Amino acid sequence: MKITTILGSPRKKGNTANVLGMFEERVAQGHEVDRINITEYKVNGCLGCGACQKKSDEPGCVQKDDAVSLFGRMTEADVVIYASPLYCWSFSAQMKALIDRHFCLVKNYGTPDHKSLVDGKRTALLVTCGGPVEDNADLIQEIFNRVNLYAKCDVIGKYILPFCTTPDALGDEAAEMAKKMAGDITG
Ligand SMILES: Cc1cc2nc3c(=O)[nH]c(=O)nc-3n(C[C@H](O)[C@H](O)[C@H](O)COP(=O)(O)O)c2cc1C
Repeated sequence: MKITTILGSPRKKGNTANVLGMFEERVAQGHEVDRINITEYKVNGCLGCGACQKKSDEPGCVQKDDAVSLFGRMTEADVVIYASPLYCWSFSAQMKALIDRHFCLVKNYGTPDHKSLVDGKRTALLVTCGGPVEDNADLIQEIFNRVNLYAKCDVIGKYILPFCTTPDALGDEAAEMAKKMAGDITG
């Protein structure tokens, strides 16, 4: 199985990277892991120009940054993991830019011809946050659900690690979550 992981944190050795790394270590034996550190790429915000909606079988985005090539790597994967720190109850801005750009992968939304270039892709969400899950990391899960409905993807898991302080202080909960995630996704 090919697993593409997207690290949406600007901190390459932060909490999210740390837990994602634990997951990747677990699945690396027997599976191919392709890590995308989002901050190493140029992903602009969506221009909302609608040019992509005039193309039906290709992204058709007019922007010449890295988003479409990242979508190529995601398209090749069996599973895509979106890993983000919780920023103001939502995704990091870097991850949100990539999510907005999914607009070019979805055609005719809201009509009977609704189509997605990533139809059926299996996805999972990994979030680390400083606070609790309740009334804090709830909206990001709902947004993830809706984006996946929009893109016709199949959410196979959502994993939230609350009360994170520093990467060094991540405890057994982090390791347990990475283990469960690996089991769910590859098992
Ligand atoms: C700009 C910013 C916004 C944040 N917003 C929240 C928040 O809304 N809720 C929360 O629980 N933690 C919030 N945090 C804390 C981070 O989610 C938490 O420290 C996370 O584990 C950082 O992940 P990282 O080390 O991978 O960057 C915020 C941190 C920053 C820097």
